[in-house]
Amino acid sequence: MNIQQLLLDKFKAALVSIGAPENAPTPLTRSTRPEFGEYQFNGAMALAKLIKQKPRDIAEKIVAAVDLDGIADKLEIAGPGFINIHLHPEFLGQQMAALVASDRLSIEPQQPKTVVVDYSSPNLAKEMHVGHLRTTIIGDAVVKTLEFMGHKVIRQNHMGDWGTQFGMLLAHLSDKLQANEVAETALSDLEDFYREAKVRFDEEDGFADRARDYVVRLQGGDEQCMQLWHRFIDVSVAHSEEVYKKLNVSLTRKDIMGESAYNDDLANVVAELQEKGIAVEDQGAKVVFLEELADKEGNPAVYIVQKSGGGYLYSTTDLAAIRYRSGVLKADRTLILTDARQALHFKQTEIVARKAGFMLPEQSYEHCPFGMMLGSDGKPFKTRSGGTVKLAELLDEAVERAEKLIAERSTDLSEAERKEVARIVGIGSVKYADLSKNRSTDYMFNWDSMLSFEGNTAPYLQYAYTRVMSIFRKADVDLNSLDAPVSVVEMQERTLAVKLLQMVEAINVVLVEATPHVLCTYVYELASAFMSFYEACPILKDDVDEATRNSRLMLAAATANSIKLSLELLGIETLDKM
Ligand code: ARG
Repeated sequence: MNIQQLLLDKFKAALVSIGAPENAPTPLTRSTRPEFGEYQFNGAMALAKLIKQKPRDIAEKIVAAVDLDGIADKLEIAGPGFINIHLHPEFLGQQMAALVASDRLSIEPQQPKTVVVDYSSPNLAKEMHVGHLRTTIIGDAVVKTLEFMGHKVIRQNHMGDWGTQFGMLLAHLSDKLQANEVAETALSDLEDFYREAKVRFDEEDGFADRARDYVVRLQGGDEQCMQLWHRFIDVSVAHSEEVYKKLNVSLTRKDIMGESAYNDDLANVVAELQEKGIAVEDQGAKVVFLEELADKEGNPAVYIVQKSGGGYLYSTTDLAAIRYRSGVLKADRTLILTDARQALHFKQTEIVARKAGFMLPEQSYEHCPFGMMLGSDGKPFKTRSGGTVKLAELLDEAVERAEKLIAERSTDLSEAERKEVARIVGIGSVKYADLSKNRSTDYMFNWDSMLSFEGNTAPYLQYAYTRVMSIFRKADVDLNSLDAPVSVVEMQERTLAVKLLQMVEAINVVLVEATPHVLCTYVYELASAFMSFYEACPILKDDVDEATRNSRLMLAAATANSIKLSLELLGIETLDKM
């Protein structure tokens, strides 16, 4: 049940019945204070302007016309014509019971759309580093939420597995294999391998030429060269998969659609752009002049699709990707998660693709940018020696740190249990710290705050979940077979019940804006509402009558299931005990 939607429908009907014009706006918001009820309908003021009448008179008409029988028990007009809606306690009770009985927490799936989500997409020439953490985690949360809401999601891991830097890497790898090294060993540390190859490229006589020769052969599909390339890619993909596994991220090999996959289509893309008069020759290169992105002097932006030497670019590949996603995959929406520095690239790419008709107007192309991860010094996150931080090592450190914390707190866990708790808390902390921040800004990576058991953190929520679960253990009640009427009496019960019913609102924002932090804020507020409820409304004390006890257990069950589901959608694991 989506209460907001239900109210909206009721108010729309009321407006029709009082003869309001069709274009009358219907703003319905959450009330800012409990005295004002749960929701507020602010359509009277807008309508007053439209039909030139007093807003308060209109508000009175709306209140008389709207049918909220059994939903709200009080409507009051405030100020110039706000309508405050107080939900009926019985309605809240019924909705709670339905929520506990439903395996989807009463959240209806939506009309399914096909959504391509391009995320993670690391460059395979190097090890996956912290720069790919945000896209991987945020992307996966978005994907899980979309799927829960019934959409057909096609994951696209647009890995950087092609390009000139592979020339030097393959030349270097070929030498290592000649010297009888095994590929897995030679490539066990991709950072080192890349550095060695680069040094040779810059300093060693003849190596740069060999590297360039490899590029040409690779592009020409030379068999021996392709074999070498496959070896390299295989090892590098395995590195990424290790990280995905540690992160509990849903990407698999079949989601990989790397840059190389579009290689054969690049010439067609450029030819088509030329035929349509969109791309032109300019100093040997093929470019698109974008008047719509001209600078102050009126010079159009230059978007290169083929270099003068004939080579293709990141942009050409993205154009081919658009054609594939809209034409073959039939994407209604395409979401791309990269850091904000690529915003201009995607803006330009979309303009060119739309000009060329590579997408239908109704197919959306949504770049979802995010800020950078900063160290505690406010500069881009680096190792102490200034190198890039490898993701795999960062995650291992998170688990180690969590293990120390858990050892200090819990006494009745076995060694094996403690390890599992440490893994779930450690990984959860890193992921949640990232997910809970508005993605559009930079954020500071800080071990102490992300591993804290207080505040909007994974440990706080994971612990809150175990606290609710412990109530059921103590009561010796199975949370899934609980079925009792819910009476919403105390203020804290009301606040909790309303919160529980609002999860769908948070989810809807995540779907539209690809901002999982909205769901994080939601689940944090929910856990806090539960804590206040639990303090004010005892459940298992002797003097609590059975009906009240069962009603409160129902609220606790709804809370447990809602925290679990929210965290699941965010890709954060929970435990019944820790
Ligand atoms: N490989 C790129 C990088 O690491 C990200 C690719 C994003 N997706 C895309 N279609 N361009 O920056």
